[in-house]
Amino acid sequence: MPYDSSHEPETIELDQTFLETVVYLDRTYQSYAINNLTYLVPIDEEEVERLHIMHNVLFRIFDGRLIFAPIHRPRRILDCGYGTASWAMEVAQLHPRCEVIGIDINPTMGPEEMPANLYLQVDDLNRRLSFDSHHFDLVNSWLIAQGIHVNRWTQYVRDLLRVIRPGGWCQMVEIYFNVQSDNGSLTPDHALYQWSAKYLESMNGLKDLRAATRLPNLMRDAGFVDVESRMISLPTCAWPSNARDKEIGAANRDNVQRMLYSFAIFPFTERLGMTSQDAHHLIDQACAEADNLTFKAYFPLYVCIGRKPRSRRWGF
Ligand SMILES: C[S@@+](CC[C@H](N)C(=O)[O-])C[C@H]1O[C@@H](n2cnc3c(N)ncnc32)[C@H](O)[C@@H]1O
Repeated sequence: MPYDSSHEPETIELDQTFLETVVYLDRTYQSYAINNLTYLVPIDEEEVERLHIMHNVLFRIFDGRLIFAPIHRPRRILDCGYGTASWAMEVAQLHPRCEVIGIDINPTMGPEEMPANLYLQVDDLNRRLSFDSHHFDLVNSWLIAQGIHVNRWTQYVRDLLRVIRPGGWCQMVEIYFNVQSDNGSLTPDHALYQWSAKYLESMNGLKDLRAATRLPNLMRDAGFVDVESRMISLPTCAWPSNARDKEIGAANRDNVQRMLYSFAIFPFTERLGMTSQDAHHLIDQACAEADNLTFKAYFPLYVCIGRKPRSRRWGF
């Protein structure tokens, strides 16, 4: 695949295919992602802002830790679907002797200036990873469920295992897009509930929006060991009573209000055939309910890590 890396002695020209965009209902999408039904989320300034907000939410949730796998002095790290490259940048700055490589189908959301040890490349995670086997100390894969084809998951996680060195780690983070509330106040009549149901339906046969819940099994089945997983509630607004979670909820409110629109508008209209007016109406109501403290609504966030065994004969 063509890639763009200003650090390479022979820079390969970035393929125009990945730079072409299309405007749909006032939002800008990558043409390649739309034409191939790879990623139905906008890639404009608004989305860049949302990703920065989301990154700050995760940063708070993980108490400022970017790497939670037990790794010291990593030499090579891969970030799959780097987005704005916030994670990759911070990791590269934290570990200046480590080569950090990010891959994404969309090269336009990354920073203009980068540390010398960060290399951003264009590639599609739905294809076999082009890296050598046993190469990385750590592979990071955060929030790319909407970009992985539904039948690709088993092979995707196997590919991650392949490129990790024996003893190296993989860390995955995904949201389960089925909104929850534990106090019984959110019912199927509510727009927020319907947003979830319709969003999952709109991706049926295309993406696995339940992949978050399957991460531990996917990792174990691929051959990872010491797999650990945790579900963390991601409040849709500042409803939690304890100060830390309230702050996370307040920060995440901004993300959720944008996400309910940016994730759904294309799938609702193009995949479910809703009119733009109906889609806007449902999303507006869902936003109001997400912002309503009494529902105590949250999206489950799944975090999963696993290690590649040291002593095994690998067939790759
Ligand atoms: C929700 S963003 C997450 C970005 C980043 N991981 C983060 O946590 O902020 C998803 C990213 O995955 C990228 N993406 C989606 N499908 C992809 C694919 N098949 N191959 C490579 N990148 C993909 C998108 O372009 C987008 O930048």
